[in-house]
Amino acid sequence: MQKKEQIREQYNSLSNGYDSMLSLQSMWAKLVCKLVWGFPDAAYAGRLLSRPPSGFSGKLLDVPVGTGLFTCGKYKSLPNADITCLDYSDGMLGKASERFAASGIANVEFQQGDVGALPFEDGEFDVVLSMNGFHAFPDKNAAWSEIHRVLKRGGQFIACFYITGEVKRTDWFIEHIYVSKGWFTPPFSTCNEIKQRLAKDYSVKEFWTVGSIVGFCAEKKG
Ligand SMILES: C[S@@+](CC[C@H](N)C(=O)[O-])C[C@H]1O[C@@H](n2cnc3c(N)ncnc32)[C@H](O)[C@@H]1O
Repeated sequence: MQKKEQIREQYNSLSNGYDSMLSLQSMWAKLVCKLVWGFPDAAYAGRLLSRPPSGFSGKLLDVPVGTGLFTCGKYKSLPNADITCLDYSDGMLGKASERFAASGIANVEFQQGDVGALPFEDGEFDVVLSMNGFHAFPDKNAAWSEIHRVLKRGGQFIACFYITGEVKRTDWFIEHIYVSKGWFTPPFSTCNEIKQRLAKDYSVKEFWTVGSIVGFCAEKKG
């Protein structure tokens, strides 16, 4: 089986337990988060999602949408945006679609697909949002280049994901557990590698790290 298929199978089987793991409602989940990541909650997600601004009415691609756990609330505040959600896993997409429908969000389309071969035109999107995706994508170069291709000039690439070399304990858990489970896929980048990569093609508007998570908002250069 190809690496991509293995990842898809892994996330299909994880789709039922993913939300309880990530929503950090139980004390146990909070403890695990603190132990692995060094912080007790996913406040970084809120920070990332302060972009794009309320009232945004352009075209937004969310890749990978996963179960939409973090983005659902945000999309409720963007009723005039034209949103496309893509993921490789049908299981995760199914959960996202149920969640958005239950919240009455109607301006979202779902598509199964590969971030490394996006089924969209060049320059089609004003914003590409990628939350917690790059550490899972098997072909990260293809993901960088496809996201850049489908963004219009001046469009915003907003992302967060795991980077290596920041917190030794987190790196240990990723290498010994997350990679062997198939949740994360190496190679992982360092903070400097991400900065260099962005500097080539983007003008960086915001850049931060929280533990081993990097987040940024960067505008595609003309
Ligand atoms: C850790 S989840 C993140 C989901 C969501 N954005 C979040 O923050 O909860 C990673 C997601 O990446 C998806 N994925 C992995 N490889 C992919 C690929 N090549 N193309 C599109 N999605 C992919 C998985 O199916 C999974 O839903």
